[in-house]
Amino acid sequence: MAVHAPAAAEEPNPLVEGLERLPIPPTTLVIFGATGDLAHRKLLPALYNLAHEGALPERFKLIGVARREKGRDNFREECRVSICEHSRREPNDEVLTGLLEHVQYVASNFDDPDGYRALGEAMDKLDADAGLALHRNYYLSTAPEFFPVIVEQLKAAGLNRHAKADVRCIIEKPFGTDLASARSLQAGVSDAFRERQVFRIDHYLGKETVQNVMAFRFANMMFEPIWNRNYIDHIQITGAEDLGIGTRAGYYDQAGALRDLVQNHMLQLVALTCMEPPASFEANKVRDEKVKVLTAITPPDPSSTVRAQYTGGTAAGESVLGYLEEEGVPDQSHTETYAALRLEVHNWRWAGVPIFLRTGKRLARKVTEIAVQLKPVPHLAFSSQGSVGVQANQLILTVQPNEGVSLSLGAKIPGSRMRIRPVNMEFLYGSAFMSQSPEAYERLITDAMRGDATLFTRNDEVLAQWGIIDPVLEAWHGTDGDAPLPAYEAGTAGPAEADALIGPAREWRKL
Ligand code: BG6
Repeated sequence: MAVHAPAAAEEPNPLVEGLERLPIPPTTLVIFGATGDLAHRKLLPALYNLAHEGALPERFKLIGVARREKGRDNFREECRVSICEHSRREPNDEVLTGLLEHVQYVASNFDDPDGYRALGEAMDKLDADAGLALHRNYYLSTAPEFFPVIVEQLKAAGLNRHAKADVRCIIEKPFGTDLASARSLQAGVSDAFRERQVFRIDHYLGKETVQNVMAFRFANMMFEPIWNRNYIDHIQITGAEDLGIGTRAGYYDQAGALRDLVQNHMLQLVALTCMEPPASFEANKVRDEKVKVLTAITPPDPSSTVRAQYTGGTAAGESVLGYLEEEGVPDQSHTETYAALRLEVHNWRWAGVPIFLRTGKRLARKVTEIAVQLKPVPHLAFSSQGSVGVQANQLILTVQPNEGVSLSLGAKIPGSRMRIRPVNMEFLYGSAFMSQSPEAYERLITDAMRGDATLFTRNDEVLAQWGIIDPVLEAWHGTDGDAPLPAYEAGTAGPAEADALIGPAREWRKL
């Protein structure tokens, strides 16, 4: 049974003319760490796709800042190569060349005041050429240890303010490695910038289907009345990845699954699933509601957590290495590549409803989903008739892949007996809107340049997230040594301990 968007049948598809993009004012975007992995895989391709759709302003300038000495032309050539390799659409040569003409490069160490002087001069010159003050957006896409250094230097050079233009600071994750370091980073950031100038990235918020969680809940009358402890048995949120850690051992072995995905993306999904309806979709209204949910979550007891690490196995038909054999991972590493948690939101709406989270590398497949399990009906009148597998309703919001919403219902099996079996009612983004969703970074870069912070995490949100995670980190890496670290075979659904965490009365959805 498929549900088609009624608009598609009755009105022209709203996406035929291309995605709607809101106008961006004249801007200089400065990317610190412009030769890094994120810039090349995500940021530059996102900028290209915005240029392709005519979404960048006529006066748009990009300045890459990185340590390596190189000329502007070399940098432009590197940008061209990364865009060709990673863009979601085949680049058009004219558009790409047009974009690259607006690209400059400043080579500097991030702690070198001369570099900031050169950057200031380069931006002033762009303003003079344009005959107006372009807004200034600094994107911190470096290793996190440079975040405090860069904000401090921007302030010291007087680049954190401008009399005639908006100045913003976009900060990549991770925002700290625990509560104390996040607080200390925040102290530096707030010394240089006002909160309204700061845009903390959680790229999940830029995903269309993550935003759809709010649309789904608050644009429809039928779900909200049952969205509470009276009707919902539990919620399970999965962020499974089939890939291993690739070439990121240096970062990942320090971080682990809890910091890498749970502290940010997974807790944001919890907040969006559980928040109260905001009065409007204005940045602070939405973020106020999310903070209320996050601060109503008490850190889980260690017995409500599971950590694990993958061993060698088979992924996509090929044999793959275990975590300890991956290049760059220390032989004795105790870093978890899998984390599962049971949480509760202690408020009127959610009291007593367990929320299970699981995430891991090298699991059976890549899937991100929010599964809302309703309670069973109080009395099933058909059980004596030979019904098969009658289940309580389950609502699945799939963030990726096969983005969509699916609702399992009990339906009558055709025939003379009253036999019931589960069927699915499905809405698929791809078929309803017939369009490729933009990459999260396209949306986030656009919003930051427009000064709209709705899809960025506020300081108190990030701290509340660390407040939940910190005690788990302490329990896992406490003074008595690390907590047990069970193994799971690569390519499987994760460790048996996670089944025990959710069971025996409940079970994880199949991966
Ligand atoms: C990043 C993590 O934040 O999110 C990665 O650092 C992870 O380890 C990635 O693979 C997952 O993002 P996505 O968009 O592929 O689900």
